[in-house]
Amino acid sequence: MNKKKFAVLGFPVEHSLSPIIHNSFAKQINVDISYSKIKVDLKKFKEIINQLRDEKFTGVNVTVPLKFEALKVSASSSVYAKLSKAANCLSFKNNKIIHAENTDGFGLVKDLSNKKIDLMNLKILIIGAGGATSGALPSLIKCKPKLICVANRTVEKAEKLVNEFSEFGKYHNLQFDSLSLRKFSEYDLIINATSASLNNNVVEIPKKLLDSNPVLYDMMYGPKSNPFLSQAKSEKKFDGIGMLVEQAAQSFNIWHGFYPDTMEVIKNLGSITNGS
Ligand code: ATR
Repeated sequence: MNKKKFAVLGFPVEHSLSPIIHNSFAKQINVDISYSKIKVDLKKFKEIINQLRDEKFTGVNVTVPLKFEALKVSASSSVYAKLSKAANCLSFKNNKIIHAENTDGFGLVKDLSNKKIDLMNLKILIIGAGGATSGALPSLIKCKPKLICVANRTVEKAEKLVNEFSEFGKYHNLQFDSLSLRKFSEYDLIINATSASLNNNVVEIPKKLLDSNPVLYDMMYGPKSNPFLSQAKSEKKFDGIGMLVEQAAQSFNIWHGFYPDTMEVIKNLGSITNGS
């Protein structure tokens, strides 16, 4: 039987751990897959997608900066992808129709749940108002936290994002703020969803917010997450390696109808990315 073909598309994409993750999931059910990395310029995205579909790929994962475009080229999409206006998992149905999913928010919530963090009734601060935040919001809101505040350097972007979600989040107290967090509140969980660390910048959390000892979570993983997480006053701090693996597991589930065991993969990749 022919191997099923998959790929991750991004720009850059060399760093992607997706092939390692998907190959280790495939071993669990003894399926032979090929999973490649393809560097794609935004302008060429549609052309490459059509090409992969014609080459009978089963599906692709899509990473920065192609997630918004991924939704646009798709004929159908899930409610999570629609709300996020972005997709990270495309499937070619009957070798033809492109269906878009966004599994990022699922991955975040699943990883937090693995860490025994129950979001119901928590006060959550999410820093950043780009694609990472819009991908996470539908899944976070669904968990019925007491409050979600989106704080961003450019406060207008946080306001716009919150307004777009207001219909979905009206029961769940969705707010926005500037990065200096003038609307002070105590938070149980603070998530860094900015791209600051990609340019070696650190998002500083106002000291007052750390007094209540919130859980800190950085969507980045490995050393890039250290400057943000080192602000924690306790060991309640996590990088995004678990989120990465769980969003991949959900993509795997969509394509193979099997949710893989993720714990071992998270442990192994955690050691590799943290150099321990
Ligand atoms: P992504 O898809 O990864 O979310 P993005 O859409 O470009 O990428 O959004 C990046 C987010 O990181 C934005 O919220 C950005 O803030 P601005 O809207 O003010 O640009 C935030 N960000 C990037 N660098 C930052 C920094 N040094 N400090 C604070 N926020 C930063």
